[in-house]
Amino acid sequence: MSSKDIDWSTLGFEYIKTDLRYVSIWENGKWDEGTLTEDNVVHIAEGSTAIHYGQQCFEGLKAYRCKDGSINLFRPDQNAKRMKRSCDRLLMPEFPEDRFIEACKQVVAANEDYMPPYGSGGTMYLRPYLIGIGDNLGVRTAPKFMFSVFCCPVGPYFKGGLNPTNFIISEYDRAAPNGTGAAKVGGNYAASLYPGKIAKDREFSDCIYLDPATHKKIEEVGAANFFGITKDNRFVTPFSPSILPSITKYSLLYLAEHRLGMKAEESDVYIDKLDEFTEAGACGTAAVISPIGGIQNGDDFHVFYSETEVGPVTKQLYDELCGIQFGDVEAPEGWIYKVK
Ligand SMILES: Cc1ncc(COP(=O)(O)O)c(C=O)c1O
Repeated sequence: MSSKDIDWSTLGFEYIKTDLRYVSIWENGKWDEGTLTEDNVVHIAEGSTAIHYGQQCFEGLKAYRCKDGSINLFRPDQNAKRMKRSCDRLLMPEFPEDRFIEACKQVVAANEDYMPPYGSGGTMYLRPYLIGIGDNLGVRTAPKFMFSVFCCPVGPYFKGGLNPTNFIISEYDRAAPNGTGAAKVGGNYAASLYPGKIAKDREFSDCIYLDPATHKKIEEVGAANFFGITKDNRFVTPFSPSILPSITKYSLLYLAEHRLGMKAEESDVYIDKLDEFTEAGACGTAAVISPIGGIQNGDDFHVFYSETEVGPVTKQLYDELCGIQFGDVEAPEGWIYKVK
């Protein structure tokens, strides 16, 4: 597909091949200088640990076209740091933060024709990943690694956009206590495919995972974090070592407190105490902020603000966050990195 064939208004969250991606290889204790390549097919050894033992991690961040034509990256330093933590957990060498950010900038600049225009609702999604490659057989860390970043223009992740959609509590766990839930590693997502399918077959947007130890507290909303707005106007989001520390979530915690004047806290969200919340949503790079209409838990269906309309606080948070990302609202220091 050429960039000219893209209808920006109907973009979903699907793979579109863009022209160039960044690749760097680690061998003998160091990363090579890295390069941009047209080849979107990865040729790796059949014994690669990424294939057999899930030794791989990835990231997701976005580039935003601003009104003045410039391009913003939103907090890429945080993605670089989180990837380092994922690498530490899976015994992989970290890709240096400055090079991670530079690679993201290069990939966006090299594929600028595919950048959705300001006001189209689209963004450029970047997918950095780091995988164990090279000849190997036993369960051990790989002899070689590959870091790469590719990008795709995308629209909304959940079909509703800023319209509420419904979710269902899963009986399955996506990660174990003291497992890899806080790392952005493929194994967590492999474990989520089946529960996600069950939810979607029943026409829910996705499933909600409870804490794996007690199944009493909300952890993740599909591939996004949960937040709720309480009756006394607090922004509450779960804290747990088995959820992915969402960069969007930490950004919203800050904005709720410093821009909206709310109390903002990470604390337990009990599934039998949803009445405390007047609004709820899912947040993440792909999901942005997706209002949660209702949650199905067994036979019980709990509606928050409305099944059809976004709540006022969720809307305010959405406007503030998107305003910052697209350069219309002043960003807290250090949140925006200019590609150009
Ligand atoms: C499981 C999971 N939770 C939460 C998030 C949201 O994280 P972030 O806001 O950093 O995109 C993501 C997406 O990256 C995710 O995959």
